[in-house]
Amino acid sequence: MIRKYHAFFALILLLFASNLSFAETVTINIKDFKFQPDNKTINLGDSVKWLNQDSFPHTSTANNNLWDSANLLSGASFTRIFDKAGKFIYHCHIHPGMTGTVIVRTAEQTQIKIGKDIITASPKRLPIKLNLAGKNADQVYLGSYIVNAQGGCADCHTCPSYAAGHDPYKGESKQFNAISYLAGGKAFGPFVSANLTPDSTGKPAGVTLAEFKELMRTGNDPDVPGNTLQVMPWPVYGMMGDRDLEAIYAYLGSIPQATQPLPSACP
Ligand code: HEC
Repeated sequence: MIRKYHAFFALILLLFASNLSFAETVTINIKDFKFQPDNKTINLGDSVKWLNQDSFPHTSTANNNLWDSANLLSGASFTRIFDKAGKFIYHCHIHPGMTGTVIVRTAEQTQIKIGKDIITASPKRLPIKLNLAGKNADQVYLGSYIVNAQGGCADCHTCPSYAAGHDPYKGESKQFNAISYLAGGKAFGPFVSANLTPDSTGKPAGVTLAEFKELMRTGNDPDVPGNTLQVMPWPVYGMMGDRDLEAIYAYLGSIPQATQPLPSACP
């Protein structure tokens, strides 16, 4: 019940605080007879707002006629959402020498970018340092996207889930708890979430990739053969394809080692 309220308040927050969302509106200024910047790469689903700051009218008109702002007087703007990947070239209908390009990332490129931004962009949602040595960075950032933006792994595997003063359920700006990030230790009745951070050999949760895929798909406890993992939503996660499970594993192998908080610190 409490969780349900949390989800409800999180939704309200998302609706009213657009800065919590990763879908952006990117502004391209029309100034001095130029589109500024004239070349912009955005995420799939982002919007572009063309804002005319010249004292002359201009337009934003797609070369393939996909959009046309009509005449924008000084101070006027035109906004368009980009829900298809690709390269879009446009010009000003009145001054055809003025041209610009919008490049829209594919769905996968967008996930990789968001997964990276969670850790590196400002404000940092997760201030950790990844160890990318010997890793495919794009695969790791895709894993970050799945773990942090889809899987909700930190909900159960980080205690407390959010940094002090950064708990979104209290209306504070969101930041994951980096100190015991994914170190486990949350109790669900008799079941305690596992430490997912790398062991001394770099294996996340101390398991090999094959063991990881096996436990995510079957729930077989790697530590206690014959035991089925409880609470852990493996019946859901097990439906992911190999690409995604391998990305999660690569990501978990690159996060900092952390020790499980004491049960007293983690009620
Ligand atoms: C609803 C809470 C919850 C969520 C969400 C959750 N887990 Fe778990 N997880 C647990 C619990 C509890 C255990 C221990 C279960 C047991 O011992 O029976 C566990 C165990 C595990 C284990 C087994 C480790 C071992 O060595 O035994 C792995 C790996 C794991 N989780 C990975 C993940 C990943 C990756 C995600 C996100 C994609 C995730 N979990 C999300 C609760 C959760």
